[in-house]
Amino acid sequence: MAKIQIKDRDGAEHSLEAPSGTTLMELLRDEDLDVEGTCGGICSCGTCHVYVSEDWAGRVPAKGEDEDMMLEAIGEVVELRPTSRLSCQIEIDDSLDGLSVEIGPVA
Ligand code: FES
Repeated sequence: MAKIQIKDRDGAEHSLEAPSGTTLMELLRDEDLDVEGTCGGICSCGTCHVYVSEDWAGRVPAKGEDEDMMLEAIGEVVELRPTSRLSCQIEIDDSLDGLSVEIGPVA
């Protein structure tokens, strides 16, 4: 279980408990925070884009090649930042307690 701090696209802050073993995308989608997760978490839609806070950027699991490629693709239509991640690729565990993210724009 980890408590996650989330800023939505309207700038509102949310503090949510996330069970270990789920992904950040599933949490955002299931809490109706306007994250569709259209592809179901297989790294092929980009609708789960988040900006991880800078202090957490080096503490979340590293990006894989598929995630890098998908981010590059959505970067043609939305603003990417150095801390951009696909939330479906971030699996929650206790080490992420206190993680802070901002939901990214959709194309
Ligand atoms: S849910 Fe589709 S890329 Fe993350």
